[in-house]
Amino acid sequence: MGKDVIVACDFSSAEATFEFLDRFAEAERKPFVKIGMELYYAEGPGIVREIKRRGHKIFLDLKLHDIPNTVRKAMAVVSKLDADIVNLHAAGTRAMMEAALEGLTREDGTRPLLIAVTQLTSTDQESMERDLLIEKPIAEVVMHYAKTAAECGLDGVVCSPLEAGKVHSVCGNSFLTVTPGIRFADGDKGDQKRVMTPAAAKEAGSDYIVVGRPITKAEDPVAAYMRCVNEFVD
Ligand code: C5P
Repeated sequence: MGKDVIVACDFSSAEATFEFLDRFAEAERKPFVKIGMELYYAEGPGIVREIKRRGHKIFLDLKLHDIPNTVRKAMAVVSKLDADIVNLHAAGTRAMMEAALEGLTREDGTRPLLIAVTQLTSTDQESMERDLLIEKPIAEVVMHYAKTAAECGLDGVVCSPLEAGKVHSVCGNSFLTVTPGIRFADGDKGDQKRVMTPAAAKEAGSDYIVVGRPITKAEDPVAAYMRCVNEFVD
């Protein structure tokens, strides 16, 4: 898979999601879709199968984090949904990441890409120190999580585009950086604290950008999506 724009479909129902995706029926490109907890918990696994049936690639963003045995079994179920990318929290530790890979691997040896969340882009140095009692520089924490994920055999990390270059230099260029926290230069930051434009994320070496509200809340979502594609992919 090459560089791509992943659209975060953070809707609360299948109806709202399909109303949104239907707008892309005539578009020159079918968006890679991210399904998060809100939609998945509302609609269940059928939503993944239906979006897949419509020809979209899927990043199933469920951010698993539990004891290794539970994550292994949950990933074995997730694997059957045929998503292209799935994820977990690197904070679940090495044993959990290795168990996740085991669970995800099908009998024929194939599996979806597995990436790890390092620190959420809504977390900054202050909240990390105050709420998580992690008193290291956030860049060092992110890099440590990425390195551990790579050593466990994962395919990449979700990280801020500000960290993409460093992740590649520590974990190798084929280790994927999937980066949310994307905003247009003339757009709203919302609750994201560490943001970059699609063009800057490309420059920084991101492999995939994850873009939600700048596309889903745009007056013309197809135009906003194509603006991301033009800045990031082309
Ligand atoms: O609307 P916005 O562009 O901020 O959406 C970003 C998406 O990326 C959301 O679905 C959010 O849950 C997700 N995400 C994030 N930061 C992470 C991991 C995932 O913002 N570290």
